Amino acid sequence: MIRPAELIQRKRDGEELADDEIAELILGYARGEVPDYQLAAFAMAVYFRGLSARETFALTDAMVRSGETIDLASALGRKVVDKHSTGGVGDKVSLAVGPIVAACGVPIGKMSGRGLGHTGGTLDKLESIPGFRTELTIDEFVDQVRNVGVAIVGQTADLVPADKLLYALRDVTATVDQLSLIAASIMSKKLAAGAQAIVLDVKVGDGAFMKTLDEARRLAETMLALGREAGREVVCLLTDMDQPLGGAVGNALEVREALAAVRGQGPADLSELVLDGCAKLLAFSDLGIDEATGRARAEAAVADGSAEATWRRWLEAQGGDPDERRLPEARVVRDVTAPTDGHVTRLGAIAVGNAALHLGAGRRTKEDAIDHAVGVVCLAKRGDEVAQGETLAQVHARDDASADEAAQAVLAAYAFGPEPPPRRDVLLEVVD
Ligand code: URA
Repeated sequence: MIRPAELIQRKRDGEELADDEIAELILGYARGEVPDYQLAAFAMAVYFRGLSARETFALTDAMVRSGETIDLASALGRKVVDKHSTGGVGDKVSLAVGPIVAACGVPIGKMSGRGLGHTGGTLDKLESIPGFRTELTIDEFVDQVRNVGVAIVGQTADLVPADKLLYALRDVTATVDQLSLIAASIMSKKLAAGAQAIVLDVKVGDGAFMKTLDEARRLAETMLALGREAGREVVCLLTDMDQPLGGAVGNALEVREALAAVRGQGPADLSELVLDGCAKLLAFSDLGIDEATGRARAEAAVADGSAEATWRRWLEAQGGDPDERRLPEARVVRDVTAPTDGHVTRLGAIAVGNAALHLGAGRRTKEDAIDHAVGVVCLAKRGDEVAQGETLAQVHARDDASADEAAQAVLAAYAFGPEPPPRRDVLLEVVD
């Protein structure tokens, strides 16, 4: 039997742990035999000391083994794809990519997480849809991928329970932004959920866990190595997170915007990234097409309404009401206006993410309930020209006091100048 305190101490002192030590610690935690406080201390030791490539693989493997795994290829008799983001502000790409790819005839089964820190989680967004169930059984998940073509679920007690526990613990112990912990968390979910080809969206910048391109490349390479070691095809898109993606930040607001993207009416940066992701996933699929054809098919599914029809079928299959008028709405909507004429030279993603978090869109402790209606909609983005008094953003809040506080924070996230800043595409680099 391992002694958790001894492993914590050895990791704290910079030692490399053996595979079976990591496995026992993680599996013991998943069984409830190792308490939260010891795993929190271990996560902090890893935060400062890091994990070697071997330890990262051992952690990933232990998390996968903490629960059941799904063999989607055997269950469906064909190749299934998946996509995942490392987490950002306003990142609703998965919500739109799922039904578009499914409408193109490629099954997509995805296991997602909840919000971490200032970033929103796909599950929290989906739960703003009345009735939507994120906890399906494994059989329900497989049946839905087979019959509807798309399912997005949370980590049930059966699938990767160790990550579910650790993810929530890291969120409230300042141990999220550690490369190996992120890589193991994401890849354990991807490997357990059984897709053969995976597109990873690694966010870079102010609102991401990876602040620089170099760090993002290292995370991408770590995840590629973990995927390949497990026999999966993986590609990583490194994408801009210096400003929120699209306009909406906050759960129900983001669902509305994702639906707009599925209809071809989304903001330009969001739609661009959604189509890039779809093109890559379709090129990975068993359709035998290249990326350019994949993109054309995704565009066609958006234009002819089949992507929206799949969105409805998907929501209904998971018990959700597809009528967007049923999404919760905040009581107070407050405009944030431009204090000057000029160009938006900066719109800080983390500041907007934190404003949404304080409004109640995210959690500060593991037990916090989130308010699905609240958030921020950024109407002016980097490079836009604005006139004094023009609405830059709208704060959706539950009361006047929180609206005032968030409006100030959102205004402070903007910077203005006489000239537009250099143009930057949302897709920065591809690592494969
Ligand atoms: N997304 C995950 O699934 N896990 C992390 O640790 C960070 C982002």
